[in-house]
Amino acid sequence: MVAAGLLVLSSLFSLALAAPSLQERRHVVRAVQDVPRGFSYLGKASQEQSLNLRIALVQNNATGLEKALYDVSNPASENYGHHLTKAEVEALVAPSAESVQKVKTWLSNNNITAQAISPAGDWLSINVPVSKANALLSADFNEYTHDASNKTAIRTLAYSVPETLKGHLAFVYPTTQFIEPAKKNGPIFKAVDLPRASKRSRSKRAVDASCDTQITPSCLQQLYNIPTTPASAAGNSLGVSGFGGEIPNQDDLTEFLSVLRPDATDGTFDAVSVDGGNADTSSPGTTEATLDIQYTVGVATNVPTTFISVGNQNQDGDLTGFLDIINSLLAEDNPPLVLTTSFGFNELGFVQEQDLAINLCNAYGQLGARGTSILFASGDGGVSGPQASDACDGQAFEPTFPSGCPFLTSVGSTQGIKETAADFSSGGFSNIFAQPDYQADAVAGYLKTLGTTNQGLFNPQGRAFPDVSAQGVNFVVDIGGQGQGVSGTSASSPTFASVVALLNDELLNQGKSPLGFLNPLLYSSGAAALNDITSGSNPGCGTDGFPAVEGWDAVTGLGTPDFNKLLTLVTGSAATGGNAASTAGAVSTVAATTDAATVTASSTAAPGKHHHHKNN
Ligand SMILES: *[C@@H]1O[C@H](CO)[C@@H](O)[C@H](O)[C@H]1NC(C)=O
Ligand SMILES: *[C@@H]1O[C@H](CO)[C@@H](O)[C@H](O)[C@H]1NC(C)=O
Ligand SMILES: *[C@@H]1O[C@H](CO)[C@@H](O)[C@H](O)[C@H]1NC(C)=O
Repeated sequence: MVAAGLLVLSSLFSLALAAPSLQERRHVVRAVQDVPRGFSYLGKASQEQSLNLRIALVQNNATGLEKALYDVSNPASENYGHHLTKAEVEALVAPSAESVQKVKTWLSNNNITAQAISPAGDWLSINVPVSKANALLSADFNEYTHDASNKTAIRTLAYSVPETLKGHLAFVYPTTQFIEPAKKNGPIFKAVDLPRASKRSRSKRAVDASCDTQITPSCLQQLYNIPTTPASAAGNSLGVSGFGGEIPNQDDLTEFLSVLRPDATDGTFDAVSVDGGNADTSSPGTTEATLDIQYTVGVATNVPTTFISVGNQNQDGDLTGFLDIINSLLAEDNPPLVLTTSFGFNELGFVQEQDLAINLCNAYGQLGARGTSILFASGDGGVSGPQASDACDGQAFEPTFPSGCPFLTSVGSTQGIKETAADFSSGGFSNIFAQPDYQADAVAGYLKTLGTTNQGLFNPQGRAFPDVSAQGVNFVVDIGGQGQGVSGTSASSPTFASVVALLNDELLNQGKSPLGFLNPLLYSSGAAALNDITSGSNPGCGTDGFPAVEGWDAVTGLGTPDFNKLLTLVTGSAATGGNAASTAGAVSTVAATTDAATVTASSTAAPGKHHHHKNN
């Protein structure tokens, strides 16, 4: 386990950094001893360079948010499904009037005006030159590089604020946070031919043999009893997030569907932009975004789907985008009912920045309390972080973030018709977040089975992940008319999200609430509606990693979805028809094509403009 070794400096030392006023008592918010692993000092920052700093204020009732989230998400609670309104959630996380007043007075005394950037007012944003930031925060901002990516960042190793702000100002970002860029969890790909959808007459429950080595939407429908019939509920929605310029191409999707889902009637999605992200769906498609859209639109048939493209306008790294997408969704009256994200971080970078990790986790909790199911790919590095790495060989396992946040559903990967764990499927135990009650029994059973295996390499009291899993190896996608096979937990999260969106459809049609935060349901009655995966493991850090076993495990979670069983569980009634088993043979034979696609998507997406609809 990684120790959260915060170095608390004396106020004397912080005065020595840069003193705005020698008489003023200072509160050291954070001080790190050394430049964190993976980063190097580059040089002095220009004193004139403008910094965009975000100030997180202390939320007045974060405990109340957690309580409210569980109250509406636990099937045993009488308030199950009675999700909170936007205003109710904001009231829980808004800072107190005193906190707002103190922080604003401090800023205005320094001739700085702040803007609120979250609907609850718990985040403020200021723009100041480096010289002023240094004086305001007794900081020493300099340039650092992230060695692996060569990305530069302006950071300080310590900062403080007037002591009167203690208990009111939580932290400032970016200051001491050295966070590696987000990793896409689907980097493993190879060229394949787009398979022809086969005309088949198969007996009930049989799955095409090709699904053992190559996954198509039809394979997922067969494996998981996912209906092929179009969703129809008004108000249903599914959000897919993308970072760092990732964008899916509409023509690729259209061609993909014509080959692999010829029965599907609607093959469009909306694209919206956050932080100047590219939302022009006539741009060449990128791998991750293509996978994520082709396996949401291609599986959650007819569920209105929005791709949220997060750009790098703020230059502060991917974490800024993670904050901005959530604040922009929290500002919406109707955020998507399901959100899938196939990007994540190594949790190591957050261990000394727990306030930041907790703030983001609470933001997922806010959306969950309002009725959104938040799903994240668990990561592709087994027990060695979001991507395979030997940096931890012989040392503690490296969990991923935000999978360690207890307020979301983390999705790992399986493979094969007789499903077994995919060896890259990240799983383990958070070093930041404590184990939530809802998984205590399941995890205790697993720890007992583990015995002394991996003892000392992970935190057995931590929040354990993933929660569930789905196929993740060799998904066929169409990029620019070329078939590719893509693997990663990036494939699994959109798949599971599509199942949730189709369950929501039945619920909404019956006048019921959407599922919202899933875990309390999944770890109780939900476990029996999942396929338990009991073989495979996720090696890393020079070990065999964790084994998949009967019951919950730190590779495949509780298992993969069985739509029919889940539907019976959540609605009390079985599917009314139209699932894959009852429409076997409906898929016609369509030749794969590698020509340029023929449909032209017209797109004039503007940053910040929501719901730019594609007309085809
Ligand atoms: C915090 O929120 C909870 C709702 O979960 C509420 O019962 C409690 O009264 C709130 N506490 C304060 C101090 O506002
Ligand atoms: C704020 O602006 C006023 C007027 O320009 C100036 O007198 C004062 O010194 C400034 N204060 C700080 C802290 O920069
Ligand atoms: C980083 O930049 C340096 C100098 O510009 C260059 O030599 C090096 O190859 C770059 N490394 C990577 C990983 O791009």
